[in-house]
Amino acid sequence: MRKHIVAGNWKMNNDLSQTEALINAIKKQVKTSDAEVMIAPTFTNLWQAFQSTKDYDVEVIAQNMHFAENGAYTGEVSASMLKSIGVNTVILGHSERRAYFNETDETLAKKVDTALENEMRVIFCFGEELADRKSGKEETVVEDQIKNALFHLEADAFKQIVLAYEPVWAIGTGETATPEQAQDMHAFIRKTLAAKYGAEVADSVSILYGGSVKPNNAQEIFSKPDVDGGLIGGASLKAEDFFAIVNAF
Ligand code: G3P
Repeated sequence: MRKHIVAGNWKMNNDLSQTEALINAIKKQVKTSDAEVMIAPTFTNLWQAFQSTKDYDVEVIAQNMHFAENGAYTGEVSASMLKSIGVNTVILGHSERRAYFNETDETLAKKVDTALENEMRVIFCFGEELADRKSGKEETVVEDQIKNALFHLEADAFKQIVLAYEPVWAIGTGETATPEQAQDMHAFIRKTLAAKYGAEVADSVSILYGGSVKPNNAQEIFSKPDVDGGLIGGASLKAEDFFAIVNAF
């Protein structure tokens, strides 16, 4: 049985006091679904967030990490540094990092390798641009992103990998993919995995949808057979909205 997962990607939001306030509000929420709940504060607040949620069924995860173990990489953070503060899951390949920080499939393949070598779980993001979808290339783009960064891995590695399909045109725009668009792409992704690794592996991997998931659309999106949860941006910054989505299964 695949895991249901709802992860809040806080992006570059919340200073220390705002982080504490949001976590306190999250602690007051009641989870009524079987979803695993994750939150991804910024690096500066990860330790506080980890300490504050130790006794709660919320996993604190990172928004990124470097592929090197240490060294002359000013401003970067390594896997071992994240593990040392209790963070064992990392988001990699987010479209904003691909766009603003020139993260290529090759760089992401190295980051995935480093995360797995450090026994971390990876939420691997990918998704097409609006121009790709308008020209009918969305499946080709997504297939390339997955193959280029992940298909060097052995099947067993996928026990530590969660996939997150985030059409770039839906991120932060309010233009959510329709439940049918999400299901079609998730089914294509699972078929692509099955062709390489077999049905058992493909059926075991959780595939999240991200891109303007809100309390009023989450239930229909999550009801689709190949959608196993969501990677939530804006709506994760309000505890009530975030848990309305967590409980949408
Ligand atoms: O990583 C999740 C994020 O990209 C989605 O953002 O604001 O459209 O939910 P948002």
